[in-house]
Amino acid sequence: MKRIYFDNNATTRPDPRVIEKVMELAGSHYGNPSSLHFEGQQAKRILEESRRTVAAAIGAEDSELIFTSGGTEANNLAIKGVVEALAIKGKHLIASAIEHSSVRLVVNQLSQQGFEVTRLPVDKNGIIDLDFLQKNIRKDTILVSIMLANNELGTIEPIPQAAEIAHRQGALFHTDAVQALAKMSVKVDELGVDLLSVSGHKVYAFKGVGALYVRKKTPLLPTLHGGGHEQKRRAGTENLVGIASLAEAVRIMDEEGEQGKERLRLLRDRLEKGLKEKFPSAQINAESVPRVPNTTNVSFPGIDGESLLMNLDAMGIAVSAGSACKAGSTEPSHVLQAIGLSKEAARGTLRVSLGKYNTGEEVDYFLKALEQAIAQIKRGD
Ligand SMILES: Cc1ncc(COP(=O)(O)O)c(C=O)c1O
Repeated sequence: MKRIYFDNNATTRPDPRVIEKVMELAGSHYGNPSSLHFEGQQAKRILEESRRTVAAAIGAEDSELIFTSGGTEANNLAIKGVVEALAIKGKHLIASAIEHSSVRLVVNQLSQQGFEVTRLPVDKNGIIDLDFLQKNIRKDTILVSIMLANNELGTIEPIPQAAEIAHRQGALFHTDAVQALAKMSVKVDELGVDLLSVSGHKVYAFKGVGALYVRKKTPLLPTLHGGGHEQKRRAGTENLVGIASLAEAVRIMDEEGEQGKERLRLLRDRLEKGLKEKFPSAQINAESVPRVPNTTNVSFPGIDGESLLMNLDAMGIAVSAGSACKAGSTEPSHVLQAIGLSKEAARGTLRVSLGKYNTGEEVDYFLKALEQAIAQIKRGD
């Protein structure tokens, strides 16, 4: 059976050009970038070229980029690294209520260790409350962490405005841009952030690689201790194959430019038009606010989302019921709770996240399959 993959916010299939480039490299550039001999220096050249490519794509300087094992580690390093460095200055942190677990659980843990954490509420579309931020930021706030694009809703947060509020009080600002890269422009100076996380496998590179941007002079202590890699900020021999895959994916992303994003937008609009025509009672969440162009989050009243997911899977279609990391859990996701969706509505929610390999025909097939899948559930098949 032909499969249709509509779960690109969970992960993406690596671009064939990425695989080709990197597989060749895995055999030929096996040296340790820290070694002084030829093999080591050959690997180091790839490492530094990759750093230049990824840094340039987000408008950063090479020295401001630390490679990590993914978005999770980048988020952990950003928050724990700043907190370690600035604990003498203050013990107050702010994070939005809809952060990915790799931010949410880090700040939860810090709150058990004596830090005070303020959770920034969001409105029914998942947009943060800037007035709340303004009123709750304090002299002892050391870090504000707000994601650029939400993984479940696709909502784009007003990061430049939030970062300005943080900076006026002398706090640092981190954004998790894992779901934003390749779907919108991500430039550190336009966003005005001090720290920014990205992940390879969300942008058609390999799993197990990511990067943290750290603006020059931002205090940050390492969380992994060992060798002096990554300017002594992240110990561990670099995952050269993964890093090169990220660089190649980013190069392709830049080459595809606005056209790639526009194509996704057109597909998404076709999907949402079809959803409205076929399912008038369905509710597209966060529809009226700025969103990344590939994500549709839709609630079907009275339908169990997990059953719908399983029925669609049996028809060859992969989607997600809420966040990928929540699969298997029957509790509505924290994001859907934060936007005030009832438990009932949240349970009937699907996330469809399109990617660059998807086509209009796939969208049309999905809409037909969805009708069947919902009919099966209503009949109790
Ligand atoms: C918003 C967001 N941040 C961070 C991560 C974690 O990235 P990684 O899987 O590379 O650890 C994810 C992955 O789902 C995500 O969606």
